[in-house]
Amino acid sequence: MRVTVLTGGTSSERDVAIASAVQVVAALRSRGHHVSVVDTAKGYIPAADEPHFLSGKVGRTPPAIEELVALERGLLLSGLGVLPVMRDADVIFVSLHGGRGEDGTLQAILDVAGVPYTGSKALGTALAMDKDVAKQLFRQAGIPTADWVMAPATPEEVEARLGWPVVVKPSKQGSTVGLSLVKSPAELIPAIELAGRYDDEVMIEAFIPGRELTVGVLDGRALAVGEILCQSEIFDYESKYTPGLAREVFPADLPGNVGEECRRLALGAHRALKLGGYSRVDFRLDGTGQPSCLEVNALPGMTATSLLPQSAAAAGIPFAELCERICLAVRSE
Ligand SMILES: Nc1ncnc2c1ncn2[C@@H]1O[C@H](COP(=O)(O)OP(=O)(O)O)[C@@H](O)[C@H]1O
Ligand SMILES: [Mg+2]
Repeated sequence: MRVTVLTGGTSSERDVAIASAVQVVAALRSRGHHVSVVDTAKGYIPAADEPHFLSGKVGRTPPAIEELVALERGLLLSGLGVLPVMRDADVIFVSLHGGRGEDGTLQAILDVAGVPYTGSKALGTALAMDKDVAKQLFRQAGIPTADWVMAPATPEEVEARLGWPVVVKPSKQGSTVGLSLVKSPAELIPAIELAGRYDDEVMIEAFIPGRELTVGVLDGRALAVGEILCQSEIFDYESKYTPGLAREVFPADLPGNVGEECRRLALGAHRALKLGGYSRVDFRLDGTGQPSCLEVNALPGMTATSLLPQSAAAAGIPFAELCERICLAVRSE
């Protein structure tokens, strides 16, 4: 296959995206595929090209459909500065996290351009990116999730609706950026202000003490459940990306049917958000053994030691095979 890995981008998770891409590229090459790399952040129309770009005239008849398809692919993707490798790829491997790469915008552009790409479509990625909408869909589908309110909210309202502590976070972010654990009323407003720097919508969610679990989903099947053990109360940016600060156990050591239940809920959450291809579903497990879904990552980290690849490996799918299956799923659509 000719695969173009689309990475970089302009979100706060740019470095994470590139870290994933480096390994995805190596894995796909190791399986004999022809791989190119594109950074979406470098795609723009230089000022010197604008006069030419904006000089199109309306003809007497509309262009043929074939011409339009070719044009759409050309025009839209030339914005990425890399026309041939985008147009000629059998599959675009989307290795972006956060921002326009994970909120459905890029997927919509690729849809219009007519190039096949990995993972979920525009709607699914957009739903998964918006934690408020996602949680409403979880509730509707019977997937347990912590109570929440959206800002603005006074400390009195939060105390009445949720109690303390709460987690304050941007509704559409990732990697724990802009997130605070708020233990007392006085900390609420500064936490909302911090989260508000990353998103105009801020969520205030009941804190669930307990264990942190994650489940990969691939091709309509829930993979192994894993547990994240980290020193801090929340799985923060530093713990996520500094080697040694968190330890992951796959499969997680869980009592009774908790693991099975998490896998069932993971698939339910994946479907509730209309996701396709693959995803990673995160849970908190409280002291009573009840899992609550935190979120679904439509484009989870993809280094060989990231959580989804570990979940796959524990289910018998090595990293290179995982990368390849993610591409093949697109081709068989
Ligand atoms: N309601 C909550 N209760 C307990 N911990 C939480 C809660 N919300 C978030 N966290 C902690 O913060 C981390 C990041 O939160 P999450 O909602 O997954 O956002 P992100 O998209 O930034 O990963 C979680 O993995 C978890 O450790
Ligand atoms: Mg998360």
